[in-house]
Amino acid sequence: MVSDKFILAVLVSGRGSNLQAIIDSIEIRSLPVKIGLVISDVKNSFALERARKHNIDELFLDPKTFPDRKNYEQALVEQIQAKSVNLVCLAGFMRILGKHFINTFSDRIINIHPSLLPAFPGLNVQKRALEHGARFSGCTVHYVNEEVDGGPIILQSVVPIYDNDSEALLSERILEQEHIIYPEAIRLIAENRLTLSGRRVLHNK
Ligand code: GRF
Repeated sequence: MVSDKFILAVLVSGRGSNLQAIIDSIEIRSLPVKIGLVISDVKNSFALERARKHNIDELFLDPKTFPDRKNYEQALVEQIQAKSVNLVCLAGFMRILGKHFINTFSDRIINIHPSLLPAFPGLNVQKRALEHGARFSGCTVHYVNEEVDGGPIILQSVVPIYDNDSEALLSERILEQEHIIYPEAIRLIAENRLTLSGRRVLHNK
């Protein structure tokens, strides 16, 4: 067990269903962590509303009010550090993070991606998996490094692709799995159950 002293920052841009899954896991006490702060780079993202509803500190940090990416990321860093955050969780955050941010929180940033990495990194991945003719897709929680969607893999869940699938149906089935494995990956990290060994993430007993 860990105490609720393990603090998360969750970075979002959109609807925030993964944020909601994390909140729900915390509230039913299967995830012994606390969300210190939710930050969005999009003003009206529904994720911010979800945070407000659960009395979680939230912040819209407008990229347009900073001269460049480095300054924006420095502002993100300061906000996150002010909350003594242990782990930064990207949950549908639509910006690519640079060296400065990644090095500041080295091995303490994770992301959820809706494909079985290393297949289909980047955007529109459910559509691409379908069009490619893959028989399986799924989702991946991974550490974030400088390579987009390229960091060490923590957890994956496999989702079959059916002949009559649509992008919407496949996305929905993948999302269901995202909501299971993202809180689970956070729990493994909070309980210090993972060891990084080069590209591999070993799961301690
Ligand atoms: C998810 O599909 C996630 O895998 C991807 O962005 C989407 C975010 O959805 N990185 P939500 O905002 O958590 O609902």
